[in-house]
Amino acid sequence: MATAGGQRAHLIIVIGAGPAGMSAASLFSKAGHEVVVLNRDIKFGGLAEYGIFPSKLKLRGGLRKTYWDILNRPNVHYFGNVSVGDTKALTLADLRSLGASALVFATGAQGTKTIGVEGDTAVGVYHAKDVVYHFNRLPGFSESPFEMGRRVAIIGVGDVMVDIAHWLVRYKQVDQVTAIARRGPAERKYNPKEIRALCACIDQEALAGEFARIRPRLEAVGQDPGDILKGMVEEFTKCESFPTQSKMGFRFLASPRRVLTDGQNRVRALEIEETKLEPKGGDFAAVGLKTYYEFPCDSVVFAVGDRVDETVGLPYKNGIFVTSPNKTSNDPDDALFQAYDEATGKVLEGVFLTGWARKASEGLVGVAKRDGEWTAEVVVRYLESQPPRDRAALDGTLRCLKTWLADRQVQVVTIEDLRLLETAEKEAPSSQHCIGEFKFATNQEMLALIQRGRDRLRATVAR
Ligand SMILES: Cc1cc2nc3c(=O)[nH]c(=O)nc-3n(C[C@H](O)[C@H](O)[C@H](O)COP(=O)(O)OP(=O)(O)OC[C@H]3O[C@@H](n4cnc5c(N)ncnc54)[C@H](O)[C@@H]3O)c2cc1C
Ligand SMILES: NC(=O)c1ccc[n+]([C@@H]2O[C@H](COP(=O)([O-])OP(=O)(O)OC[C@H]3O[C@@H](n4cnc5c(N)ncnc54)[C@H](OP(=O)(O)O)[C@@H]3O)[C@@H](O)[C@H]2O)c1
Repeated sequence: MATAGGQRAHLIIVIGAGPAGMSAASLFSKAGHEVVVLNRDIKFGGLAEYGIFPSKLKLRGGLRKTYWDILNRPNVHYFGNVSVGDTKALTLADLRSLGASALVFATGAQGTKTIGVEGDTAVGVYHAKDVVYHFNRLPGFSESPFEMGRRVAIIGVGDVMVDIAHWLVRYKQVDQVTAIARRGPAERKYNPKEIRALCACIDQEALAGEFARIRPRLEAVGQDPGDILKGMVEEFTKCESFPTQSKMGFRFLASPRRVLTDGQNRVRALEIEETKLEPKGGDFAAVGLKTYYEFPCDSVVFAVGDRVDETVGLPYKNGIFVTSPNKTSNDPDDALFQAYDEATGKVLEGVFLTGWARKASEGLVGVAKRDGEWTAEVVVRYLESQPPRDRAALDGTLRCLKTWLADRQVQVVTIEDLRLLETAEKEAPSSQHCIGEFKFATNQEMLALIQRGRDRLRATVAR
């Protein structure tokens, strides 16, 4: 693996191969820089591979193709199965000492957000990201059982709730899924198009009953329950059809307070506090009414968004990596992309953030892609003040990186390895396809397959 192109260039290390990292890497490579992409997962794609619902094969396939094209460029060097963090294969300090012109963190929002209710560690309580990683077959999550029982309460009414409910009604075929919303139906967050996956299962009589239950509280803040219900039901068009008896419902103005358990610390119910809406800055906030009731369920999924993973080692505060509050001498907003240490009052020179690492759980793939592009523009402006390096130095840095990883016994996965893996997964008999397509469930299986492929290749060359 050597660098390609003219005499002098910049080396940029992108950490994370999801939509944001890949779009930044694409622009860097198009600008003629050498790009190293370090990725925790063996496969690239991030949530495009392990988040987007399995049945969206066209969207996932299109994104995969785009990422293959980027990673096949001669000046892009992929290092899969390489985690960056305090106790990981490489630390932030390691990366900063490598002499790259810039580091771009595109690690997404890998931390778990909890809302701090009693009982949230009981058996049967799950966090949405883990569930999503499970049904998308991310190693580490794919093999865990995720017992859901018959009645599932999902906290939150965003698109992630819809995806998890979709999995529960379509593949797990539970009896009842209920989305629990602390605010009202007008404040639902999911995209109307996404509800098509579920609308065939929504119990419309029960929904009308739920509206009747909360009618006075909606009217108290000037909302028209009839209009809101009509608007909600009008979105139930082009409903996807699949065989299931599962029912989907909603519980509004309902704030979870405690997870109630049985003698074996298993979920038996949620304790919910009734809420009302209160106008707040052009929106509505939920205010607890101090009246409580039990909502029976066998499992609870928190789908309330995520936070970043503070163990990555970047300055962190309240669920996000800290970015600079100061204006830069380039475009003033460039500061919003720069990692910043509040203790020293200084930016981490040459360290940038993008995508969900910059704004946790915000937006679709297109938003992450655009963020990657913006970050690339910011970095390219920054590079104008940095001297490029000669080819020998860039090759030396790549060699050093590889030596470190070999010394630390990390089995780095290259783009050639991924080709082998993709061929093997495509060849798997359709009887092994769990949802939509076949994916190896563990890193061990993938790494063993890759090693066998490399050994075969070596034997062929030696002959
Ligand atoms: C359940 C779910 C479903 C979604 N469905 C859709 C959809 O249908 N359509 C749509 O447009 N958008 C969808 N989105 C939104 C979309 O997935 C995100 O906008 C986008 O993936 C964010 O991109 P990102 O690159 O910032 O982060 P991610 O996609 O999370 O990528 C992060 C990358 O960083 C790597 N990484 C993490 N930590 C480390 C580390 N310490 N060291 C090295 N590498 C690391 C990971 O391996 C991963 O490759 C969905 C999101 C979720 C949660
Ligand atoms: N198919 C798709 O296109 C798809 C799929 C998945 C995700 N995504 C995208 O990924 C992003 C993240 O989605 P998301 O669903 O995780 O987040 P989201 O859209 O922000 O929804 C989070 C939900 O959790 C609720 N919530 C937050 N804190 C809470 C608390 N303390 N108590 C009770 N409820 C709480 C929110 O209620 P409040 O509104 O009251 O805060 C909201 O209903 C979104 O941009 C989404 O569009 C897209």
